[in-house]
Amino acid sequence: MMQMKKYKLNKGVFIAIEGIDGAGKTTQVQRLKEYFQRKNLIVNTFKEPTDGHYGQLIREIAKTGRHLYTPEEELNLFLMDRKEDCEKNINPALAKNELVIMDRYYHSNIAYQGALGIDRELIQSKNEKIAIIPDLVIILDCAVRVGLARIKYSRNETPNHFENEHYLQKVKKIFQAMSGPNIQVVNSTPDEDTVFNHVRNIVNDMIAPYLIETDEQQDLFGTTENTPTYKFSEN
Ligand code: TYD
Repeated sequence: MMQMKKYKLNKGVFIAIEGIDGAGKTTQVQRLKEYFQRKNLIVNTFKEPTDGHYGQLIREIAKTGRHLYTPEEELNLFLMDRKEDCEKNINPALAKNELVIMDRYYHSNIAYQGALGIDRELIQSKNEKIAIIPDLVIILDCAVRVGLARIKYSRNETPNHFENEHYLQKVKKIFQAMSGPNIQVVNSTPDEDTVFNHVRNIVNDMIAPYLIETDEQQDLFGTTENTPTYKFSEN
C-alpha cells in the first residue's frame, strides 16, 4: 500500500461542479471530498440552492410550479440565496485557505435562468458582483434522457418542475456552449469511476501549484496538530 502524502493549501481553492439534473454532480462532489480529505486537506462542500430561507423558497417552487414567479424574480431568489451562501459559508472557508467544492453555483444560474430567456451576460455580471469566481468549473455533460432516467430510477424520485425534457435540452445547450480559462466540460455518460478519474485528473492539475507538503495532521475544526501518520491507498 502506498503512503498518501499530506498536504495543505497556500490559498483557498474554489471548485464548482455543474451540469443538468442527473448528470452526477452530487456523486462526484462526494468522491472529490473523500479523495482530498485523504490527502489531509480541509474540504468544504456546499450545495445550491441552499437550506437557507431563499433556498427553501426555491425548493418549494421546484415542487409546486413556477407560475407564481417571473423569470426575473426567480433569478433574484437564486442570487439572494447565493449571496448568503458566499457570506456565510464560501468566503470564510476560502479565507482560511481551505478547499471549497460546490454542488451547483452560478453557472447553473446562467444555464437554467438563461433557458427562461434572461440574457446570459446579464446573469453572469449580476452574479460576479455578489459571488466570487471559481478557480475551476467542471460541467458534467450527459444526454438529458440519461440524466432524467438517473433521477427516476436510481434516486427513485419524480422529476420536479425544473426537470422537464424540453427545458433541460435548452439548459444543456447553454452549459455546452460555456467556455473560458476556468471551465472544463466532462462527458458524464460513463460509469462513475470513469467520470471520477477524469474529474480527479483535471482537479489535480489545477490544484498542484497551491499544494504544500506538510507533516501536520489538520483536524476538522481548522486547527493543526502533529499526529502519527496514517496509511491510505493512493487511488
Ligand atoms: P438540485 O441540485 O437539483 O437540488 P436537489 O438535488 O435538491 O433537487 O437543484 C434544484 C434545481 O434548481 C435544479 O433543477 C436546478 C435549479 N437551479 C437553477 O435553476 N438556478 C440556479 O442558480 C441553481 C443553483 C439551481
